Amino acid sequence: MRVFPDLEALSHAAAEAVVHAAEEAVAERPRFALVLAGGSTPRRLYELLAGPYRDRLPWAQVHVFWGDERCVPFEVPASNYGMARETLLRHVPLPEEQIHPMPVEGYPPEQAAAAYEELLHTFAATRPEGPLFDLVLLGLGADGHTASLFPEDAPHLAPKDRWVQAVTAPPRHVPRERLTLTLSALNEARDALFLVAGAEKREAVRAVYHDADAALPATHVHPQRRVRWLLDEAASALE
Ligand code: 6PG
Repeated sequence: MRVFPDLEALSHAAAEAVVHAAEEAVAERPRFALVLAGGSTPRRLYELLAGPYRDRLPWAQVHVFWGDERCVPFEVPASNYGMARETLLRHVPLPEEQIHPMPVEGYPPEQAAAAYEELLHTFAATRPEGPLFDLVLLGLGADGHTASLFPEDAPHLAPKDRWVQAVTAPPRHVPRERLTLTLSALNEARDALFLVAGAEKREAVRAVYHDADAALPATHVHPQRRVRWLLDEAASALE
């Protein structure tokens, strides 16, 4: 866990971590598979990756996926894909065929989940060696959710053979209809990186990072190598 004075410093550290993960991945094979987080915290990171860090990433070898998506049109502000396109994807030379949004515009949620799961299995087959994802970026909700895996969903009940699920978020999280990678898919990654900012996240950080509360989905993120946490001071758990 590393704690930074504010979101700006946290976002620069996250950009450095993404650059380093990309360098490590492409040194082993010509691919860097990155899973983008939704919500608001990673917005500044995406702007930095499109700005001062743009030329430090091997965009021709990068593939981007999403950890979750709201079932809304991409141009709607709540769209995780729409936010990433506005802040990052339209500014960098990333080949369109290497951008893999969850297909929530074209299908009802259950079919979109099945289509994305098939896309992931196809991608996995093209790179049998090494992890499915090199780095998964994740946020943390004040209730301990991550991606669109909510405490009410009893993460241990998720089917182990599914990689993508259509979920209805609890009423306090609108839009409620979403797709999410399952813990099985998230844990196919080499590394996971939580980006957490704001005092409202403090209790969730304590419950997940310090107490490993098994009722919280974020506690079950166990990628193949390591989980790292980048926090601002406001979110760092009470001592
Ligand atoms: C989403 C995200 C979600 C997010 C947390 C934190 O689609 O909403 O994937 O898991 O990371 O809710 O959101 P903020 O960064 O906006 O606090």
